Amino acid sequence: MALLRSGIARRWRPASVWMLYVAGLLPAAWGFYLGATGNLGADPVKTFEHHLGLWALRFIVLTLAVSPLRDLGGPNLIRYRRALGLLSFYYVLMHFAVYLVLDQALVPSAVLADIVKRPFITLGMAALLLLVPLALTSNSFSIKRLGRNWSRLHRLVYVIAGLAGLHFALSTKVLAAEHYFYLGLLAVLIAYRIVRSLQPRRGRRRAMQPVATE
Ligand code: HEM
Repeated sequence: MALLRSGIARRWRPASVWMLYVAGLLPAAWGFYLGATGNLGADPVKTFEHHLGLWALRFIVLTLAVSPLRDLGGPNLIRYRRALGLLSFYYVLMHFAVYLVLDQALVPSAVLADIVKRPFITLGMAALLLLVPLALTSNSFSIKRLGRNWSRLHRLVYVIAGLAGLHFALSTKVLAAEHYFYLGLLAVLIAYRIVRSLQPRRGRRRAMQPVATE
């Protein structure tokens, strides 16, 4: 019985990660469908851009929440952290692609001027660029090859979260409840990480280990 249970668990784990990828990409597919059928309102490009940006932010929050949840006695979702991180990256890429192609019509001078002149675009771009090495090293081969440097590199996710929060806050003239909600979550998660890094190393060895599954 125990053997059967462990066999099912072994098969279920990778399948559940793939299900997360599929479920995680559904909001993008839904937004695309609404856009293609003319159901994205008066300003479809902006609406689609916002939709993808918000999902990028949600996946960043979920990625950061995995360790605190486990440390505080909640469910251990560590095997889903890589998928959540990669989903954040895919949504940022799609958000950027909509900006580049539909908003700026692929005009490099307009994009460059925007990056230089609008601080919230500068911050968003910095977050995207920092996400690239994390996405490229989110695989078992890189974890083994980089060793301890892998964990050091992936701490950048907290810088990215800070940049993304600032980008979100500065993208609007007036902060609404939604902004306070996400900014509050990011602040708590970043503060938690800082407090944990100040604690003695012994107690948190396990929490610092990279995710070598799925
Ligand atoms: C980690 C990276 C990023 C995240 C998490 C992110 C997230 C967001 C979010 C949540 C919004 C606001 C959506 C809303 O108000 O409903 C937004 C707006 C926007 N973002 Fe990003 N973004 C990122 C990177 C970028 C990059 C790289 C660009 C382009 C270079 C960009 C361009 C924009 C634009 C143009 C807006 C709309 C501002 C407006 O309302 O006019 N973002 N982003």
